[in-house]
Amino acid sequence: MESSIASVTSRYIEDMKLPDLRFGQSPLAAPMWAVLLKRIPLDWDYSPVVYNQSGQWRFGITCPAQLAYMENIILVTGGAGFIGSNFILQWIEREGTSVINLDKLTYAGNLRNLLRVSSDPRYRFTQGDVCDGELVRGLLKHHQPRAIVHFAAESHVDRSIRGPDDFIRTNVHGTFSVLEEARGYFEGLGDQDRQSFRFLQVSTDEVYGSLGPNDSPFCETTAYAPNSPYSASKAGADHLVRAYHHTYGLPTLTTNCSNNYGPYQFPEKLIPLMILNARAGKPLPVYGDGLNVRDWLFVEDHCEAVRRVLAKGRAGETYNIGGWSEKRNIEIVETICSILDELCAHDPVVPHRKLITLVKDRPGHDRRYAIDARKIEREFAWKPRESFESGIRMTIQWYLQNEEWVKEVSSGSYRKWIATQYS
Ligand code: NAD
Ligand code: TYD
Repeated sequence: MESSIASVTSRYIEDMKLPDLRFGQSPLAAPMWAVLLKRIPLDWDYSPVVYNQSGQWRFGITCPAQLAYMENIILVTGGAGFIGSNFILQWIEREGTSVINLDKLTYAGNLRNLLRVSSDPRYRFTQGDVCDGELVRGLLKHHQPRAIVHFAAESHVDRSIRGPDDFIRTNVHGTFSVLEEARGYFEGLGDQDRQSFRFLQVSTDEVYGSLGPNDSPFCETTAYAPNSPYSASKAGADHLVRAYHHTYGLPTLTTNCSNNYGPYQFPEKLIPLMILNARAGKPLPVYGDGLNVRDWLFVEDHCEAVRRVLAKGRAGETYNIGGWSEKRNIEIVETICSILDELCAHDPVVPHRKLITLVKDRPGHDRRYAIDARKIEREFAWKPRESFESGIRMTIQWYLQNEEWVKEVSSGSYRKWIATQYS
């Protein structure tokens, strides 16, 4: 967000690690610029630039539209995880501007998710911890993003029950650290850049606690009542975000989304775990009576909603995101089994539902989550594109077609985790 077009251009070229092809510095480029520059009015604020659009290298002169293209850089934390990687892929495809991905690469971070954009100059990856304030400060200073989209978190409830420490560290302290750096950065911005800067906290419906069967779905004013170390750590982070808006005027946005499913989800979560176990003829462990209810949303719909909130959300506001798609766990597992019966009739155990096994319940297991998404629907005309029926079929097909990805995550630390969890 530097004010001079020339400095933005030069920073952009440096970022891409390209040979500098600006006028006067390349024998090939010079004649072309000489022709072009003659045609440009002298008072026009221009600067030549080399950039990549839709996989093609282009030469150009910066004009306001291109400047927006280059300046709309965002910093994403946790972009190698399930939702973060889907978000980055979608961002680059639909928004077309640059993304800096800061991710620690814990067991849940997988750079293979981002193979499609790994050599795109609009995508940059830095391995690091959100708790490292100095690192976050350096990234903000160097890249001058117009927004931070904060996904990085420890995200699995069962892990939070076994070992809450990392959840408190990353989710609470990590969010605090990113907020602190965002505050310093925001305070140093010029008036215009302050207007457009946003810090978006990606949160969950789990902070609202558990619903009874006849309770209304969670809305933005529902009181927080987290029940697991995971949801408590996310609630703590959300409260800090709120406080940074109220106390320091940091332009924050918070989204509380329901359970996501889709491509690239690590197979410790219900849906991918059931798909992979069913294919392998392993038991399908359903906790308790299987009647706990979750409200499911296809991950790309979540990503689209986050983009909508980032573009249009009012600073300080919270937006609930959900699919109006409440399902009991047992229904989910049975649906997966019948789709697999149809698509994988030669698996070791068919029908797959023979593998369903009711196991000991998760301690403190929330009975029901449901999201009232009317605010985001009303204000931004957002609606999920996928129904649960279409989304689950696409997801199963994705896991069937991406054997390499599955093989890679099924080895290594995932194996160790499964061994402890189900020993
Ligand atoms: P995930 O576990 O798949 O990914 C988390 C990512 O954060 C990983 O890439 C990991 O390496 C990274 N990370 C963890 N600790 C880090 C640290 N200290 N510094 C930098 N990076 C770190 O999680 P997800 O399912 O993609 O969830 C992303 C966000 O969305 C989380 O904040 C989660 O609370 C929220 N959310 C998830 C769901 C869901 O159903 N998965 C629903 C609503 C909200
Ligand atoms: P999960 O995917 O862990 O998401 P969350 O706990 O954040 O909602 O679990 C979704 C639901 O599925 C939850 O009610 C717990 C249940 N569950 C099982 O019954 N068996 C399993 O093996 C897993 C991982 C989850």
